[in-house]
Amino acid sequence: MAFATRRFVRAASSAAATAAAKKLIVKHVTVIGGGLMGAGIAQVAAASGHTVVLVDQSDEILKKSTKGIEESLKRVTKKKFADKPEAGAEFIEKTLKNLTTSTDAVAVVHSTDLVIEAIVENLEVKNELFKTLDKFAPEYVRTIFASNTSSLQITQLANSTTRQDRFGGLHFFNPVPMMKLVEVIKTPMTSQKTFESLLDFSKAVGKSPVSCKDTPGFIVNRLLVPYMMEAVRLFERGDASKEDIDVAMKLGAGYPMGPFELLDYVGLDTSKYIIDGWHSLEPNNPLFAPSPLLNKLVEEKKLGKKTGEGFYKYK
Ligand code: NAI
Repeated sequence: MAFATRRFVRAASSAAATAAAKKLIVKHVTVIGGGLMGAGIAQVAAASGHTVVLVDQSDEILKKSTKGIEESLKRVTKKKFADKPEAGAEFIEKTLKNLTTSTDAVAVVHSTDLVIEAIVENLEVKNELFKTLDKFAPEYVRTIFASNTSSLQITQLANSTTRQDRFGGLHFFNPVPMMKLVEVIKTPMTSQKTFESLLDFSKAVGKSPVSCKDTPGFIVNRLLVPYMMEAVRLFERGDASKEDIDVAMKLGAGYPMGPFELLDYVGLDTSKYIIDGWHSLEPNNPLFAPSPLLNKLVEEKKLGKKTGEGFYKYK
């Protein structure tokens, strides 16, 4: 009898351990920040059947985000349901039903499986947000926190919370509905269960996830930003014109855009912000050295396409 009881207890505790080790299947998502990236993430999550709350600072911003999502859905649907306009209209209706908005993250976080933060790229502001949310998503709630940051350390963000094991990076690409890649970032503290839940979520929203440790730039930007900076240095030294460098990389390397076209598209201020951040982390790394020319253009508010002038002029 005692043996049977012991076996029962062992079986029950191992079942509990298995249940505890089970990864979280994400159904309810809160996306914080309804800008370029947040709106795109909310769109693909809602379109794939998740219930989504999109949070931003004002109703006015959220109205603009929702309008952008509706327009983007129409574009996607036109292609995807070219021969079945009724099915397309149903898809849009279903997606928008899955999407609500709020200006109060704290009020919605407790009923969420996954919080994806896509607010302004500023460590203090992000940390303040995560610290507050952490207080309201208590220990017994399994809520996973993820950041879409491009250049900040996920570990530094996780450390502003008490849930380092349920914290990771989910780095989407712009424009989110079109770009297939998501980089899933695992810090040394991210649990395997959290990591797998994030991978599964990325696949569920129709993306192809790759994984990377919490290293500056993860995979894509770690290769792309130093490449663009090297192009600027080549031009600064007078070794080649920016036009020739762009043509060379398009025709010689098969890239769809040259590095200067890409810098103007991304925004010179964004590239400067990233390289300055990495330079302060690793001042002796020549790949992360700042560029006087890039700094000068940013000082002159020539930020690229968005301001009408960067390395090139735009009408
Ligand atoms: P954005 O400027 O278009 O949008 C940021 C939004 O966050 C704004 O609507 C703003 O009102 C809102 N916001 C700011 N503080 C907030 C707060 N405390 N609570 C709620 N909402 C707040 O920025 P974007 O481009 O969408 O970038 C967001 C994040 O995504 C950044 O961390 C950026 O590094 C990252 N990212 C950006 C990419 C890009 O190509 N723009 C690509 C991949 C990642």
